[in-house]
Amino acid sequence: MKLYLDTGNVDEIRKAASYGMIDGITTNPSLVSKEGREFKDLLLEICQIIDGPISAEVVSVESEAMVKEGRELAKIHKNIVVKVPLIPEGLKATKQMASDGIRVNVTLCFSATQALMAAKAGAWCVSPFIGRLDDISSDGMDLIEQILTIYENYDFSTQVLVASVRHIQHVTDAALLGGHICTMPYSVFQQLVKHPLTDSGLSKFLADWETRKGSKK
Ligand code: E4P
Repeated sequence: MKLYLDTGNVDEIRKAASYGMIDGITTNPSLVSKEGREFKDLLLEICQIIDGPISAEVVSVESEAMVKEGRELAKIHKNIVVKVPLIPEGLKATKQMASDGIRVNVTLCFSATQALMAAKAGAWCVSPFIGRLDDISSDGMDLIEQILTIYENYDFSTQVLVASVRHIQHVTDAALLGGHICTMPYSVFQQLVKHPLTDSGLSKFLADWETRKGSKK
């Protein structure tokens, strides 16, 4: 499973990138707005840090304008994936951009039929928001399972990008189900490697090592 960071913060991206395991980045208009930077400059800096797909979202809501915006974003760097919302106009724009060879991440997916439509439009990936479904007492992971089954049934090449991840159990479940990509906030990424028994076990090993015979006190 590819691991992406869901952020527009370059400090977080640099810190996570130092592990050598970040495969790509997703941004969205809310995350980018928090950074208070010019969008193109920010994207270029992210592309210099991570050599992988970087999702950049359009803010137009009409298909022609989305395509125009998407083409401009795609020109910024070869790794840019254009993100469009899962609305009828977004699907039309996806179809157009996909036929031009632009990779499209269809975002804000909350149902299996929406995901089916994204795949039929030629999306490079679809982003189901599992945390936001959990928030309304639905089961985000059920949706991931449904989409993976549908895509497998019909051999769609569209990848499932598990998004709106809130905690490491989401990451475990995404991997168990065979999600292709999982994007997460830096706070969740940091938790992936943590376990209290690892920390206490290591402290004990190091303390015991100091008590070995012949060790210099
Ligand atoms: C995905 O690409 C989105 O940016 C993101 O995962 C949204 O997550 P949120 O529900 O935490 O805002």
